[in-house]
Amino acid sequence: MPTRNLTSRISGFHRMTTEERLEAVAAFSDLDESAVGTLRRPGNIDPHLADHMIENVVATLSIPIGVATNMKVDGRDVLVPMATEESSVVAAVCNSARQCYDSGGFITSVSGNLMIAQVQLVGVPDPEQARMMILERREEIAAICDSCDPMLLRLGGGFRDLEVRVLASRGGPMVITHLIVDTRDAMGANTVNTMAETLAPSIEEWTGGKVFLRILSNLADRRLARARAVWPVAAIGGEAVRDGMIAAYHFAEADPYRAATHNKGIMNGVSAVVLATGNDTRAVEAGAHAYAARNGRYSSLTSFEVTADGSLAGMLEMPLPVGLVGGATKVHPTAQACLKILGVSTAAELARIIAAVGLAQNFGALKALATVGIQQGHMALHAHNVAIAVGATGAEVEQLANILVARRRVRQDVAAEELAKLRGG
Ligand code: MEV
Repeated sequence: MPTRNLTSRISGFHRMTTEERLEAVAAFSDLDESAVGTLRRPGNIDPHLADHMIENVVATLSIPIGVATNMKVDGRDVLVPMATEESSVVAAVCNSARQCYDSGGFITSVSGNLMIAQVQLVGVPDPEQARMMILERREEIAAICDSCDPMLLRLGGGFRDLEVRVLASRGGPMVITHLIVDTRDAMGANTVNTMAETLAPSIEEWTGGKVFLRILSNLADRRLARARAVWPVAAIGGEAVRDGMIAAYHFAEADPYRAATHNKGIMNGVSAVVLATGNDTRAVEAGAHAYAARNGRYSSLTSFEVTADGSLAGMLEMPLPVGLVGGATKVHPTAQACLKILGVSTAAELARIIAAVGLAQNFGALKALATVGIQQGHMALHAHNVAIAVGATGAEVEQLANILVARRRVRQDVAAEELAKLRGG
């Protein structure tokens, strides 16, 4: 083991091999052999590929992928891979989907594949005129944008629209140009960022101002996915359950403190599929929360109502900028395998399935919360983690988990005590 080196200024770290970096980190942080061995063990990604995906790679992290069953989306049965570290998430989707399977499953739609790039122009004395000058150049702007990605054009995508606003800001008025681009089956961040950067000098030339930021907006409100489903009241356990769920929705709709948790539950499902397919979880999360606040108060992304025949109808609408053809989705073999499981051939199809999962996840959480509470189901699975954490192995894990659940004490201290008893201590 190299001697400990307590400076974070490690010269040439980025040029080292993965193994050399790991050794340097082990020396800095005094990692023991077991920790180094764990970090050294490759998951289902070639270490060489990992080393090219991001910088300064020392290891990879494996997250379980569970498959949600019972999902019917737009009449097609689909198995949905979900990458998550949280217990109960996959089970909740399976249960929610089962309860609406016979009433048709999930019906979905999308608004299109449109992404927005923003160009920030400052320092123009006459912002309203500058706005008009930019709008007058629509044809030229379309040509500049489309010249950036001829392949996208061949696939039927490209520049679609232009919006220019004068924005009052703390630093004075700014002129904000939105490029609206159909990115087809790509998430599109690279495409629209390139367009914004390519266009910027022309905007400066036309207006005499200074462009600073040229970047996509994660509030992808022109790339919405929607899902709805109807749960017959008999399938969900009666009117009291239904009414409790409606009250839960009303709570989230009215209160940002509750809405944040309500939407976090939706994202448990959404982010799990986004991650499993190698898409950008942060982009989708940022878009979701910004969209949830679009009316000036943060609120629920789903809504629920009672239908004429007394069933429970649920709806979700949110931005879902996901792709099939770029980034980790393209290069990560696990993401490719997950797409194959899903059987999708367009980004829009993927977005629709993810919206259905988000709705199923929310239904599951609201039903548990409005009835037995979230801990009962959650704790049964969590108990397994706690059992493993205190050292249970093999059959002990199940035995110990059952004891913890029966005692309603899923805690490490209790688990350690019970494990000692199990082992005759
Ligand atoms: C836990 O990860 C998610 C929930 O808190 C969601 C909700 O409260 O709706 C159960």
